[in-house]
Amino acid sequence: MAGIPVITVDGPSGSGKGTLAQRIAETLGWHFLDSGAIYRVLGLMVERAGISGEKIDKISEMAANMPLAFDRGKVLLDGEDVSELIRTETIGNQASKVAAIPQVREALLAWQRKYAKAPGLVADGRDMGTVVFPQAEVKIFLTASAEERAQRRYKQLKEKGLGVNLARLTDEIRERDERDSKRAVAPLVASNSAYQLDSTAMTIDEVFQRAMHKIRASLSDLRP
Ligand code: C5P
Repeated sequence: MAGIPVITVDGPSGSGKGTLAQRIAETLGWHFLDSGAIYRVLGLMVERAGISGEKIDKISEMAANMPLAFDRGKVLLDGEDVSELIRTETIGNQASKVAAIPQVREALLAWQRKYAKAPGLVADGRDMGTVVFPQAEVKIFLTASAEERAQRRYKQLKEKGLGVNLARLTDEIRERDERDSKRAVAPLVASNSAYQLDSTAMTIDEVFQRAMHKIRASLSDLRP
């Protein structure tokens, strides 16, 4: 991993960090890691196995042996394409519960770091800049108000033909923010050195332009 440049994009659910990180990775021709998808797949496995959140040993063992692969934008669980299945709010909540277990985070650490490959990595999540890749060259922390994030999610889910209720979605987003920000291990916080962007009143293009401006300036400082 040493010497491989990393850009981290952290922030709460629905801030647009996934779209931003993916676009940065495509623009630079770098690898992309959607760390939330890992926690979501684990959430799906726990849900399917009907295990309660208290079975920490069992869940940690599952995390250490996840038959998970990313293949051309698809998320595969033991070969099954679960890309869409893991995007529901139920699985998002389940993911946030398993993500609060320290042993689970520990088990997934080395796995995530393996994604730092040449020519570079763009990693999106909650603790990419603080815990997983603290040495990252550029750290971005993207936020937006809970109402705006709920609106965006509402639109996305509706476009997919999924039935959703905006008020419930807003409550769920707040609940997930609260759990992610208050957990003892790797909580959702901006790294001191993160470039903070509030996307509430910005289009994705504006967010992208600002982020790229920052990235180009930081990378050219590194390689004059
Ligand atoms: O980013 P996304 O909404 O897909 O993440 C789902 C859940 O996984 C989050 O609510 C969070 O609890 C957890 N997560 C995490 N650390 C990461 C990425 C996601 O704890 N790096």
